[in-house]
Amino acid sequence: MSTPDTPVAAESDRAAFRSGSVDEQSRTRLAEGGLVYRRTSVDGEDFAPWLQSVARGFQDGERSDEHIASARERSAYRRLTGVYDPAAPVSEAPVATIASWLGELTVPGHAALPSCAISAVTVAPTHRRRGIARAMLEGELRSAHAAGVPVAMLTVSESPLYGRYGFAPAAASASWRIETRRAAWIGPRPDGRVDFIPRQRLRELAPGVHDRVRLRVAGEIDVPGSHWDRFAGTEPTAEKAGDKRAIQYTDPSGEVRGLALYTVRENHDDFTKATVNVAYLLADGDDAYAALWRFLLELDLVAEVHADELSVDEPLRWMIADQRAATVTVRDHQYVRILDVTAALEARRYGAPGLLALDVADSLGFTAGRYLLEVGPDGRGSVSAWDGPLPAGAVEVALGVAELSAVYLGGVSVATLVSAGRVSASDPGAASRVLGWHTAPRLSIWY
Ligand SMILES: CC(C)(COP(=O)(O)OP(=O)(O)OC[C@H]1O[C@@H](n2cnc3c(N)ncnc32)[C@H](O)[C@@H]1OP(=O)(O)O)[C@@H](O)C(=O)NCCC(=O)NCCS
Repeated sequence: MSTPDTPVAAESDRAAFRSGSVDEQSRTRLAEGGLVYRRTSVDGEDFAPWLQSVARGFQDGERSDEHIASARERSAYRRLTGVYDPAAPVSEAPVATIASWLGELTVPGHAALPSCAISAVTVAPTHRRRGIARAMLEGELRSAHAAGVPVAMLTVSESPLYGRYGFAPAAASASWRIETRRAAWIGPRPDGRVDFIPRQRLRELAPGVHDRVRLRVAGEIDVPGSHWDRFAGTEPTAEKAGDKRAIQYTDPSGEVRGLALYTVRENHDDFTKATVNVAYLLADGDDAYAALWRFLLELDLVAEVHADELSVDEPLRWMIADQRAATVTVRDHQYVRILDVTAALEARRYGAPGLLALDVADSLGFTAGRYLLEVGPDGRGSVSAWDGPLPAGAVEVALGVAELSAVYLGGVSVATLVSAGRVSASDPGAASRVLGWHTAPRLSIWY
């Protein structure tokens, strides 16, 4: 079993990333339009207007003082940036926002690498479509690249936004709607026990359990504490937190191996047809997984169970008698953007040995070039420059950095992207075998 004994993103690197200055090129570009691009401090007076602009940017309501205080406490891990318009009537409120932090992304082979997570991208409707988002995104990517961060990642509100910067969906997510009576549990019935626990207890246990399991699934990240509070409803401002039920699975030796949080929505027309929404399910091992899902699917008075951000290849499908009891919707979820081909490709493991000659295009210039990826029988890859002619036995693959990022976590095959006209490869099957992975990548949160 792998555990992240030593973080690949050291606290000192995270702190240096947080305190880094804004990208000069983007600062100059925005200044030419009369705008000021600068860091916003979590502790200072800037924070409240910054947060209000983020809320407005996502079409949400005004934040209360209590909410701002709570968000301030939970934002120390991020670096916050705003774009300010000195000519606006409320010039202390940024007209655009972005947040980022140095986190860890799990890659195939029980390994992680430092990754720049980006969130809170908003541009006020008064300032849209004049290149402000582009300046901020390119600015954060240049900052991350300059800091030696090999990959950037984000989850999105809309799919078409980030391909132009070299991002691609690398881990899809599945939303499940399960008719419980049709489903009929045929999976294992583990010997441990399921018990209700206080939400606060789940909040305390979740980071430890998640750290034990996150290196097993490519696409997962180290979850910032504020997200556990959001799931568990343990922020002071959480609405309807009492609706959330928390359970744990304890194995026969007494160790907590799984956690789940769910809410129940009654059906007033028919009390036997309530709906359960699974806010989070975290399983350290197959027994915990089976026990928690069985508990949820066998709840009395419940007709449907909904769950989001699941894998596209859930074992759950094989634990119910009627697979058509589940309606599954798949969509793009975890986006990845490689910034350093050598560091990124050497961090993961591969599906098969082989030699790939990669010709990578990158309109932002970070990764454009020709690389040789040699994968040995142990599944480890080493990258060198591809200077001369095509080496004997090499498979030639020409692709953009977005396509390389799409296949990076093993969630989509090179052959599929060749068929889609997005990649060209001299032997798509061989390239797919090398870059493929035996488990589907997944990201169980959004950020
Ligand atoms: C999405 C958003 C950040 C774009 O900001 P913006 O400053 O208007 O974007 P820009 O002017 O920099 O546009 C950059 C590029 O993205 C394109 N673009 C911007 N918004 C788009 C949209 N909603 N759909 C498709 N393309 C879009 C532009 O056409 C432009 O393309 P080009 O440079 O390749 O010609 C802004 O509309 C917004 O705040 N939306 C609501 C919040 C949100 O969804 N944020 C994203 C969170 S993941």
